[in-house]
Amino acid sequence: MGTSLPLSEFPALSLDPARLPRHITIVMDGNGRWAEQRGLARSEGHRRGKDSVIAVVEAARELGIPYLTLFAFSSENWQRPRAEVSFLMRLLHRYLLTETKRLMRRNIRLIAVGDTDRLPEPVRRALRQMEEVTAGNDAMTTALALSYGGRQDIVMAMRRLAREVQAGRITPEQIDEHLVSNTLATAGLPDPDLLIRTSGEQRISNFLLFQIAYTELYFTDTLWPDFRERELLKAIVAYQLRERRFGAIDSPPDHSPLRAAN
Ligand code: IPE
Ligand code: IPE
Ligand code: MG
Repeated sequence: MGTSLPLSEFPALSLDPARLPRHITIVMDGNGRWAEQRGLARSEGHRRGKDSVIAVVEAARELGIPYLTLFAFSSENWQRPRAEVSFLMRLLHRYLLTETKRLMRRNIRLIAVGDTDRLPEPVRRALRQMEEVTAGNDAMTTALALSYGGRQDIVMAMRRLAREVQAGRITPEQIDEHLVSNTLATAGLPDPDLLIRTSGEQRISNFLLFQIAYTELYFTDTLWPDFRERELLKAIVAYQLRERRFGAIDSPPDHSPLRAAN
């Protein structure tokens, strides 16, 4: 089944292909409420949320977004009831086993960020396999944030750097923004240009902290299971209407309408 280009499907949404965000990150929230509104078990919302993941990965790839990071499970989500956590783990496992073919066909690399050692062994194994198999794919990188916490990420990076200093491999003066950035779990990914959070909550919930210093934030009431291509396009259109100044008053360094015109 071929997917038609979202752009041509929604001509009403005018999008500038020259100024697409390089890195989009999404806090996929509202699965439970989606199910509760329908008198269904929360797990049904998660199941349906997996279909949104598949649709949004496809849409981002079609649009030519190079990096997509999806917050799938936070370090705090371990506190949920055992049955919900194990359902989510099984869903994730199934996703990893069944999506390989599609990701290969689309030339998409998949990586995990977060404290993946806490994940059940079958999930870790499937993740490792997926990372290995897709390692050479270069059309888009999709990062799944799993057992991820922004503060933990920073703490772990600080520990690693402290050990480097202690071992005499670097001096404290060599620690700069660049090095910190490259010591975080998201090393190698550019800072996100656009952060989307679904379900109406307007908070970060311990997602990327260091990385979102100048990220544009977009909040939508749409619940994650209802978030598909069209909602992604709407978010990108909203992003393109923003003026990113990065603290300066003219000639912003990146994605600037001025720069694009000159
Ligand atoms: C997001 O949906 C999925 C995860 C956090 C794993 P929720 O499960 O948080 O859904 P709500 O917020 O309770 O509706
Ligand atoms: C954030 O959603 C984590 C993910 C989407 C994976 P939560 O539902 O866990 O966040 P809070 O509890 O509303 O802040
Ligand atoms: Mg939630």
